[in-house]
Amino acid sequence: MDALTAEGLTRRFGEKTALSRLSLALEQGSVFGFLGPNGAGKTTTVKLFTGLLTPTEGSCSVLGLDPRREAEKVHAQCGVLTESARMYPHLSGLENLAFFGALCGLSRAGARERGEELLKRLGLAEAGKLPAGKYSTGMAQRLSLARALLGRPRVLFLDEPTSGLDPESAQAVNAMIGEQAGQEGVTVFLCTHQLRYAQDLCGSYGVIDHGELLALGGLEDLAARAGCRTYAAFRLAEGETLPGFERDGAWLRRAISSEDEMPGLLREAVAAGRCVYEARIEPPTLEDVYFRFVGRGEGGETV
Ligand SMILES: Nc1ncnc2c1ncn2[C@@H]1O[C@H](COP(=O)(O)OP(=O)(O)OP(=O)(O)O)[C@@H](O)[C@H]1O
Ligand SMILES: [Mg+2]
Repeated sequence: MDALTAEGLTRRFGEKTALSRLSLALEQGSVFGFLGPNGAGKTTTVKLFTGLLTPTEGSCSVLGLDPRREAEKVHAQCGVLTESARMYPHLSGLENLAFFGALCGLSRAGARERGEELLKRLGLAEAGKLPAGKYSTGMAQRLSLARALLGRPRVLFLDEPTSGLDPESAQAVNAMIGEQAGQEGVTVFLCTHQLRYAQDLCGSYGVIDHGELLALGGLEDLAARAGCRTYAAFRLAEGETLPGFERDGAWLRRAISSEDEMPGLLREAVAAGRCVYEARIEPPTLEDVYFRFVGRGEGGETV
């Protein structure tokens, strides 16, 4: 059984189509990056999967369940981190977790223990004693993630989990997301603008703009479809050139079809008497791929 499916999933708000005929299926244990500019339809999709919105057309399922008709069962197996998670401001971080833990069926002691463990992992061990109302944006964001993980969910919906986090906290959060997927086999649906992190975490991606899914697949596959090439890049002594290479600042670049071309190119450069200070293979990045699709999406063209 797939963890998540969508079939022609559509949501309109009046005249506005926030999500148009989304179809996808995600295997259990996969980490899916849902990428797209502001207003693309990402949060709308999460709200449809978690039963906060009803589809205008089409359907979706979470672990085989309909999020609208079987909301309780879906919620029992999902952790959700939304853009604005509400906590009780007068309760401490830990008390909030104990409260929400009890709601997802943990015993009072079990919820506290799990809450303490998560706070520690997320660098909030001390802050856990403070009222949640006094948390900074980044602390509140991490507390929300702890809340999403309380009930050991099988599916995690993370809507911008690292927005507003400093680099150290973002790293801790990303490490935790990676662990959830790797060790715990949790399926992760991750909406993010942070393409570098997404590239480290995700096995497959959906690129969405104006409610339309523009691309779906793994990075290599998407890169091939978008026509993004892999390059051999050399940094030589100043002023030196190589045939077939183009200059980009201090680097000379040439597209290659396989990394097996690299040793030969390197040998040729050395044989030609060039001083090679650095040499590297540059595969397409998620950022390269993203801009190809989102750029083309402006014209409504799908690759
Ligand atoms: N409740 C609503 N009523 C009317 N329009 C809405 C509503 N919710 C979302 N929209 C519209 O639907 C579109 C998609 O919004 P959504 O929040 O899904 O985008 P997003 O991809 O999450 O963007 P961001 O990256 O900014 O979070 C936007 O044009 C938005 O204005
Ligand atoms: Mg959003």
